[in-house]
Amino acid sequence: MKGLILSGGRGTRLRPITHTSAKQLVPVANKPVLFYGIEAIAQAGITEIGIVIAPETGDEIRAAVGDGSRFGVQISYIVQDEPSGLAHAVLTAEEFLGDEAFVMYLGDNLLQGGIRDLVERFRESQPDALILLTAVADPQNYGVAELDGDRVIALAEKPTEPRSDLALVGVYMFTAAVHDAARAIAPSARGELEITDAIQYLLDAGMRVESHIVLGWWKDTGRLDDMLDANRLILDTIEPRCEGELKDAQIDGRVVIEAGAQILRSTIRGPAIIGAGAKLTDAYVGPYTAVGEGCTIERAEVEHSILLADCVVRDLDGRVESSLLGRNVRINRDSHQPRAYRFMVGDNSEIAVP
Ligand code: G1P
Repeated sequence: MKGLILSGGRGTRLRPITHTSAKQLVPVANKPVLFYGIEAIAQAGITEIGIVIAPETGDEIRAAVGDGSRFGVQISYIVQDEPSGLAHAVLTAEEFLGDEAFVMYLGDNLLQGGIRDLVERFRESQPDALILLTAVADPQNYGVAELDGDRVIALAEKPTEPRSDLALVGVYMFTAAVHDAARAIAPSARGELEITDAIQYLLDAGMRVESHIVLGWWKDTGRLDDMLDANRLILDTIEPRCEGELKDAQIDGRVVIEAGAQILRSTIRGPAIIGAGAKLTDAYVGPYTAVGEGCTIERAEVEHSILLADCVVRDLDGRVESSLLGRNVRINRDSHQPRAYRFMVGDNSEIAVP
């Protein structure tokens, strides 16, 4: 069996972060979300993985992931020229996949507990497709499955009137039969070849599509709130350790402090992770915060937030909360007159002041 990770999406809902960086590389607990998918596939014993990339962000993904050796897998890159849908991505990868069965994993998805058991079940039961489902409050935003008992009877992509609350999770297993299905379907209203329609095609052709209801948590990290949720869920599972230097520091609960970080006269209340080389001085870092490598937090408070590498947060009166800061963002107090807010922010940024 092979692995196929789709990492070509444009990440429009995470702008401005995704103007300069691929959404699959935005870190959750200081690790790119894409790496969790690679690890899950590797843990299921699959060693040949293809990553579908877009021309714009492909180089960055190649640079971050490399040849896969550090994950114990072999990675091939497949360029998808247009964002024409998940089934289009499968067709683009046809040469890599050959006639082998494969697990397809959306590069911005996170699934608790990995996929080892599911791959095992797929190998034993040998259906034409195995889909993962989970109940959600807003099924109209996902692919939706209708079941009769545990048999899948129909699927619809982002239906305005969902027939159930069971969303398709972004992890699928297929035999090579899906290639013909992907070739046979027409683009959807949003102009994409939908994998949901390809699976419906398999059903219509009388093929066996099995489903599995995911009971643990699942996150599609496409939006800020989902990113913060994913960060919270992963931080809840980290093993505390300290490889940095502490002076007059108070560390409570589940906290990881990476090598070279310096914590001076500061309090960290976990779950939290402080990246390598970060510097906290007279600071407070509250629960569910991931502070990236090389960040500086001085005389300021940060909670329930994700800071990418090399951010500086300094001399703030109010606490920074539920925020996502891109790389090298600086938030400072400014004593110039007249007293005013002064910004230099990229397109599609969002700022909330009290
Ligand atoms: C895609 C699929 C959808 C699935 C979702 C899971 O949606 O088309 O069926 O439920 O991923 O994350 P998209 O992220 O393209 O909106």
